[in-house]
Amino acid sequence: MPSPTLLPPTAPPDLAGPPLPPYRFDLPPGLLWVMHCSEGPVPRASIEAGRRVLDLEAHPWDMDFGRDVLGLPDRVRTQAARLLGVDAGDISLTQSTSSGLALVAHGFPFQPGDEILAPLGEFPANAWPWKALESRGVSFREVPLWPGHQAGPAAWDSTPPTIADSLEARIADAIGPRTRMLTVSWVRFQDGLRLHLPTLAAACALKGVVLVVDGIQAAGVFTPDLHGVAAFVTGGHKGLLGPAGQGFVWTTPELRSTLLPAGSWLSVADGSKWARPGTDLDRAWLPDGRRLEPGAYNLVGAAILGESLALLCDAGPLRIAAHVHALQGRLIEGLRGGANWPGEADRLEPLWAADRLGPFLSLYAGPNAAGVLFDRLKLGADRNIHASVREGYLRIALHGWHDVDDVHRLLEWLR
Ligand SMILES: Cc1ncc(COP(=O)(O)O)c(C=O)c1O
Repeated sequence: MPSPTLLPPTAPPDLAGPPLPPYRFDLPPGLLWVMHCSEGPVPRASIEAGRRVLDLEAHPWDMDFGRDVLGLPDRVRTQAARLLGVDAGDISLTQSTSSGLALVAHGFPFQPGDEILAPLGEFPANAWPWKALESRGVSFREVPLWPGHQAGPAAWDSTPPTIADSLEARIADAIGPRTRMLTVSWVRFQDGLRLHLPTLAAACALKGVVLVVDGIQAAGVFTPDLHGVAAFVTGGHKGLLGPAGQGFVWTTPELRSTLLPAGSWLSVADGSKWARPGTDLDRAWLPDGRRLEPGAYNLVGAAILGESLALLCDAGPLRIAAHVHALQGRLIEGLRGGANWPGEADRLEPLWAADRLGPFLSLYAGPNAAGVLFDRLKLGADRNIHASVREGYLRIALHGWHDVDDVHRLLEWLR
C-alpha cells in the first residue's frame, strides 16, 4: 500500500493561483472578461493613481513641476523598461500604437523607391502609417504567411495557420532588394499567432533591414526578446492594463538617431529649465527616448499606465506568462472531442506547445463562418462571458487574473 502523503495535493506551480488577484480589479461578480485583446480592465490602484493626478489638475498650485510633470513620465518610462528588461532611456511615451508606428514611419529617412514589408493581414494600425508614405514614393508590400492565407475583402475565406507553416521563413524569403524595413505584429490580432522575433531579427540583420514590432497584443502577458529589433511599439490599453490613449515605444539608440524628432520643446536640451530663455533655440536634440515625444504629457493617462506597469512587474512577467500558457493548455485540451470546434484542439495544441500563440486562443469555425461565430458570441454574452470575433476567429484572451474555474466556464459555453 502506498504511504499516505503528508501534504494535500497541490496544483502545478503555474496554476497555484492567479498572479494578478482578481480583487485588484473592479470585476462585477459573474462577469467573465476574455477580451483584453480588445480592451484590458484597468486595475483599481491604477484608477486611483489617475484620480490623484486629476486632483492635481484641479489644484495646479499643489503640483510640483519636477515631481508631477517631469518626474511622473520618468517613472512611467522606468516601469515600462522594467517590464521589457531594457533601458529607460530608450523608452518614449506616446499616445497609441498608431502614433508610435507613425513616428517611426514619418521620421525614418526613406528614399523614393524604398519598400516596407509586412505579413499579410496586419491590424490596420500597422498598415496606415506606412501606406501614408506612398505619396513620397515609398511602397508597402504584404506577404502571405501560409497557403490559403487571405486578408482584405477575402479575410473570412482564409484558411487558418498550422504548426506546419514556416511563417518566419516566408517573411525572410520575401525580403527584396528595395526592402528597407520589416514591420510585424508580434501577436497577430485575428489568428493569434506569435511570431518568433529572433528569427526575423536574424533575417533582417543579414539583409540590412530594420525590424519594427507592433507589440500591443502580447505586451503585459509575454516578454519580447528584443535582440535585433529596432523598435517595439505598443498602446497601453490591452494586456498592459492601462487606459486608451497612452502607450510607449522602445527604440534602439541607433534607430533613434536616424529618426526625425517630433519637434517638441521637451525634446531638446534644457527644454524645461526656465533659467535659460526658452526662446534660445541654439540647443541639441536629446539623444534619449524623449527626443521622439510629442510635447506636454497626458499626465492622467501616464499615471494610470505607470501604476499598471508596476503591478505587472510586481506580479512577475514570467509568472503571468506561465499562468496564461497553462490555462490555455487546459482550454485546448477541453475542446478535444467537442462537436463545435472540429479539429481545433489538434490544430492549436502543437502551436501552443511550440509557444507560437499569443495571450488569446483564436478558434476557427470554417470558411465564412461569421454567422456561427457571432451566434456563439451572443450565447456567451447571455452567460455573462465576453469574448470577441475578428476575421474568421473567436478570440478567447486569458490574463493573470483568470483561473481554472474560468476555463471550465468557458468550456461549458464553447462545447
Ligand atoms: C496588432 C494591433 N495593433 C494595434 C492595435 C491598436 O492600435 P492603437 O493603439 O493605435 O489603437 C490593435 C488593436 O486594437 C492590434 O490588435
